[in-house]
Amino acid sequence: MPFRATFDCLWCGNPHACRGTDDLEGWAQLCPACIGKAGDNGFLRFRLHQALTERGATARAPTGGTAPTGGTAPATPAPATPAPATPAVTVEPRTDRDAEMLAYYEARAPEYDDWYLRRGRYARGPIHDAAWNAELDAAGRWLDGLPIRGEIVELAAGTGWWSPLLASKGELSLYDGAAAPLDRARERLVAHGLRAHLHVRDAWTEPDRSVDAVFAGFWLSHVPRDRLEGFLGLVRRWLAPGGLFAFIDSRFDPQSSAVDHPPPAGDTSVRRLDDGREFTVVKVYYEPAALEAALARAGFESAQVASTGRFFLTGVAHVTR
Ligand SMILES: C[S@@+](CC[C@H](N)C(=O)[O-])C[C@H]1O[C@@H](n2cnc3c(N)ncnc32)[C@H](O)[C@@H]1O
Repeated sequence: MPFRATFDCLWCGNPHACRGTDDLEGWAQLCPACIGKAGDNGFLRFRLHQALTERGATARAPTGGTAPTGGTAPATPAPATPAPATPAVTVEPRTDRDAEMLAYYEARAPEYDDWYLRRGRYARGPIHDAAWNAELDAAGRWLDGLPIRGEIVELAAGTGWWSPLLASKGELSLYDGAAAPLDRARERLVAHGLRAHLHVRDAWTEPDRSVDAVFAGFWLSHVPRDRLEGFLGLVRRWLAPGGLFAFIDSRFDPQSSAVDHPPPAGDTSVRRLDDGREFTVVKVYYEPAALEAALARAGFESAQVASTGRFFLTGVAHVTR
């Protein structure tokens, strides 16, 4: 992200003004209090590392390291910049959009399920809400009917809406890039008396083993078009021969989002929280045929992507070897 002299903290939303262009806060767009918490929080740590890298790259810029004034910094750090040590390999570089999306979901965790439950700003009247509930139920029944068993990985699992169902079918590991949604998922699993492994882990991190099934709910629509095949290739690498990839995702419908969300602009959408904070996220409404073709190109077999009607897509594909 470029340096910002004044900003609202990406984590807590409080405004902050920097004293100078050397202030790490302006590079991370985090207030001093949140920077102080970076040791305990994956997202804050990631922003801090990125800020250090970007500030260092600007200082070493071939122009003589002129410090940016009022918001111009190189979009990409110089390749020679020493990167902070990362625990695992991600197949794609993280982008500012990735960071903004994680910040959004960290902050949204307490209100995320309002979307599923059509509460508050997500309530769209009895007709639309009844259709939503029926299709959500159909998607759940579809998932329940798949031959999912053995070791299961759920990527970008969020608050774990689908996790109890998955955990009842095998040994589930659920991962998300943000910690706050996983806390909700843990509560949900405990309420169901189910066990699972929960870890903060980037969805783009290379697999560390092969498993029998991978599930991703409402995640492929957050994968930009030019990274879709790369991501599906990564999913394939998660799977042992005979493995299965299943997903549920969004279809575009004007009543599928909050009442105060503007319509999508191309492949990005502006999202608002209850407190009014706004974030821009990648949200791609893929067509079933496009997903089936991308799955085939990534080496999956018998890919089947279907629509529940207005709101959701369901997809399943296999690897044979
Ligand atoms: C639309 S939510 C879906 C949550 C859940 N899968 C569901 O079906 O309800 C997207 C999730 O992706 C997570 N996320 C965003 N960027 C991520 C990344 N780079 N790696 C892993 N998770 C990420 C967010 O924290 C959020 O929980």
